[in-house]
Formats: sequence, structure tokens, C-alpha cells
Amino acid sequence: RSFLIFALVVLLVRIFISSLKKSKFLPPGPWGLPVFGYLPFIKVPHVSFKELSAKYGGIFSIQMGHQFVVVLSDYKLIREAFRRDDFTDRPDTQFSSILGKYGIINSEGSLWKNQRKFLHDRLRKFGMTYSGQAKDQMEARIMKEVEVFLMTLAKDKGAPTDLNPSLGTSISNVICSLLMSVRFTQSDAKFSRFMSLIAEGFRLFGALNYANFFPIMRFFPNAKSIMKKIDQNRSEMAEFFQETVDSHRNTFDSGNMRDLVDNYLLEIHDAKVGGYAEDLFEGLEHDRQIQQIIGDLFSAGMETIKTTILWTIVYMLHHPEVALKIQKELDTVVGRRRLPLLGDRPNLPYTEATILEVLRISSIVPLGTTHSTSRETELAGFKIPANSHVVPLLHAVHMDPNLWDRPEKFMPERFLNADGKVCKPEFFIPFGVGRRMCLGDVLARMELFEFVASLLHTFNVRTPEGTPLPSLNAMPGVTLTPEDFKVSLTLRPLVDSSHDFLNAC
Ligand code: HEM
Repeated sequence: RSFLIFALVVLLVRIFISSLKKSKFLPPGPWGLPVFGYLPFIKVPHVSFKELSAKYGGIFSIQMGHQFVVVLSDYKLIREAFRRDDFTDRPDTQFSSILGKYGIINSEGSLWKNQRKFLHDRLRKFGMTYSGQAKDQMEARIMKEVEVFLMTLAKDKGAPTDLNPSLGTSISNVICSLLMSVRFTQSDAKFSRFMSLIAEGFRLFGALNYANFFPIMRFFPNAKSIMKKIDQNRSEMAEFFQETVDSHRNTFDSGNMRDLVDNYLLEIHDAKVGGYAEDLFEGLEHDRQIQQIIGDLFSAGMETIKTTILWTIVYMLHHPEVALKIQKELDTVVGRRRLPLLGDRPNLPYTEATILEVLRISSIVPLGTTHSTSRETELAGFKIPANSHVVPLLHAVHMDPNLWDRPEKFMPERFLNADGKVCKPEFFIPFGVGRRMCLGDVLARMELFEFVASLLHTFNVRTPEGTPLPSLNAMPGVTLTPEDFKVSLTLRPLVDSSHDFLNAC
């Protein structure tokens, strides 16, 4: 009997709290434990959130420790929210408190608006665009790295190969050449250190996550030592970037803008002459801002592209019939005398559709990048308090059976219309949407095309003898990466050996 009374009381309390919630119009969601909220029940965030969205709908809320979190899995709501100013801030986290509001990814308000406008304009001038001379220059930068990548792979002559190191170096070199006109080799000690700092940064970011939900924990010894390490690593990276800024300053020539760093130096110079330097970065230290911009663009633009290419190869190993179809398309359209170029892309719909399908099914940034509300606001009739974390659940949008036919199946054809042309539905949003949408989507699409098409044009891709197919399970982290795997690459017959890079093979 006492158990029944206890259950009744719990039920009544729940009904009371839930009606309180409704009266405040907070989005629906599960109840958690006192203090901890729902946090202890979340295992893999994108998986748990998707389960909750199936239960509570396209907008739900949860309490994670002290933090109120709103999760959006209805693409129309994501679009509606992220085009608005009040959903454009970034959360105040322990990580951002160390990095400061420098850079582009973490900045907010008018500083972010200025930086975004500036970067958008300059990156276009440096080739993040689909036409003109700048695009050709960008393509030349990418193709240079593609060729080095292919030559490195050809040396393995079909032996089991881990694509990670050579791909990482090539993708890094594309972004580094654009940002600061440098390129590295795989054996470069500075480069290795740089890469390990980035990787450690991602790990530490994850390790410190709990302190975002329980701020008191930042005073615990473990969190303190992580924060100290993050700060040390930031200083070491800053030193490296500062050397680059200094050498650019010493060799600066306004008649020859080499890269993004030169553009920042010119902008700062003009701002000083024009008397608006203080406003430009809202009083933040100029060189530190350049350092953080380089860091932001490098980390946003390297891991994402590398991971998507690795997933493409994993899916090609699982679906050799798709790889074969791409190779046939490439042979017909491009021929065997050269590598594919961006100009060929409109005539390679199946290749393009396959890349889109990999972006959809792998959803490498499953939770997008968290936004925050700058003030109390409203969405879909619900109240959203100020400083709520707002998570766009891209993974759920891309796996929604109401939007996609058998979403768990790998089917490039879903991106082709009846005429065989590429068509992208509005609920395909791997780069996010709205005001903070990915700044590098054009570069990403160029690189993905050039690397994937060239790799499949040059090599047959197989799972090494005696090894199982690589897993389709992702390793959770800031991005969803495939588990380690090796691949056997053999040069395809009939490749014209008059091509420079193949001669070198
Ligand atoms: C932001 C995806 C490549 C630079 C984002 C966001 C997503 C995303 C989902 C979050 C948008 C939001 O906050 O609402 C991807 C994917 C990529 C890719 C899937 C490749 C496959 C790149 C590249 C660069 C880049 C190559 C740079 C060269 C950025 C920057 C932001 C961003 C700077 C932050 C924008 C801001 O806060 O205003 N990206 N990205 N990304 N991305 Fe990418």
C-alpha cells in the first residue's frame, strides 16, 4: 500500500511540474535527476537525442546539470531559428573562457558579424567561389596536393595502406596555403607537433565538457589541470602562428596579397590609418585575433574534409558497385588522359550524388555546432530562456524516415532526379543553415570532389586480402570518424603515362 501511495505522489508531482512547464511554455522533454538533470542518461549524445526527438518531437528541452538545452530536429525549425539574430550567439563554455571570444567560431555580436563579413569576402577572392580566375587558382592549389597524395599512395603498390597520414597532410596543405602560404611534408617535425596539438585540443575539449554543465567542477583539481593544459597548448600554437604573422609582416607587399594573413595585415593597417582600428576587433589584441582565425579555419577545415573522404572510401569498400559506376562515369566524361577537374563536375552527376550521400549518411557533425540564445525568446510557440544552448540535430534530420526513403541505406541515386541530374532537397543540411552556416562549404565541396574523383579515377579500391570490411560504426567525438582501417589501392589500367604525376609513380 505504501508503495502505491508513493507512486501516486510521484505521479502527482510529475503532473504538477509538467503543467508548470506547460504554463511557462518551455519545450517538452524528459525529466531528469535533481542537480544532474538528464545528463546521466545520455550515452552517445546524437543517438540519445534522436531517441528523445522520436518521443517528444522536432523541438524538445532537457536540463543538463545547470544548463538548459533545447534540441531541434525539425529542419524547418532549425532554419527558422538560425536565420534569427537572437539564436546566433555561442555558449559560454570553460573552453571558450580560456580561448576568449577571439576568432570566428566562438565570437559573437558585432565582432562576429564584422569577422564573418570580412572572411566571407576575402575567402571568395581567394577562390572559395564557383567561377572566375580565383576559382582556377584555388583549383590549382587543390590539384597540386591531390597529385602529391596520389603519388604517395601509388608507392605502396597495393599493400595495405592507412590513408590517414597522407590525406591529413594533403588536406592541411590546401588550407595552410590559403591561410599562410606554407606547406608541410609528412615527416616535418613542426607539422607533426602542430597536428598532435590539434588532436589533443579536440580530446581536451571533450574531457572538459562536464564542467560546462557543472561550473563548480572547474575548481576540481582534474578540471584545473585540463584547463592549464589547454592554456599551455594554446600558447604553443599561438607562438607558431605568431612566427607566421611576423614573417608576413616583414615581407609584406600591398601589391602582392599572398594569403589570408596578408589580407588581415592590410585591413589592420587601413584601420589604423582610417582611425577605426579600435572598433575593428572591439579592442581585442589584433595579432591574437589573427592567430585564432588561423586556428579556427585550420581546425574547422581539416578534420571535417579528411573524415568525409575516409567515410567515402569506407562506403566504396562496402559498395564496390558504386565505385565501379563512378569509375565508368569518369572514364566516359573525363577520359583516361587526365585527372577530373571542377569543370567536369556538372557532367558527373553520379560521382557528385555519391559525395552528397556520404555527407548525408555519415553526418560527421551530428549535433552541428551549438548556438546560444542572446535573450529570452520564442520558437514554435515555446518560451526559450536567455543563454539556452540550442543544438541542431543534423543527424536526426538526415536519418528521418519521413523525409528520406530508407534513410539507413546507402543510395547515391536519392540525390538524382528523373532526368539524372543532381538535386538536393532543402532538408539536406550537412553544413548547417542560416547566419552561422559553415563558412567553408564551397571549399569543402571543391576538395571533396577533387580528392574523391581523382582517387577513384586513378586507383581500384579494395579491402586488403584476409581482412574484414571496415566498420560502419562511427567513433563518437567532436566529429564522427570511422574506426581505423587499411585499404589496398592498385593503379587502374589504361591510365595515360604521359601525365606527369603518373610518370613519377
Ligand atoms: C561551421 C560543417 C568544412 C569553416 C560549420 C557548421 C557545420 C559545418 C555543421 C556549424 C554551423 C552552425 O553553427 O550553425 C562542415 C562540414 C565540412 C566543413 C560537414 C566538410 C565536409 C569547413 C571548411 C572550413 C569550415 C573547409 C574552412 C575553410 C567553418 C567555420 C564555421 C563552420 C569558420 C563557423 C562559422 C561561424 O561560426 O560563423 N561547419 N564544415 N568548414 N565551418 Fe564548416
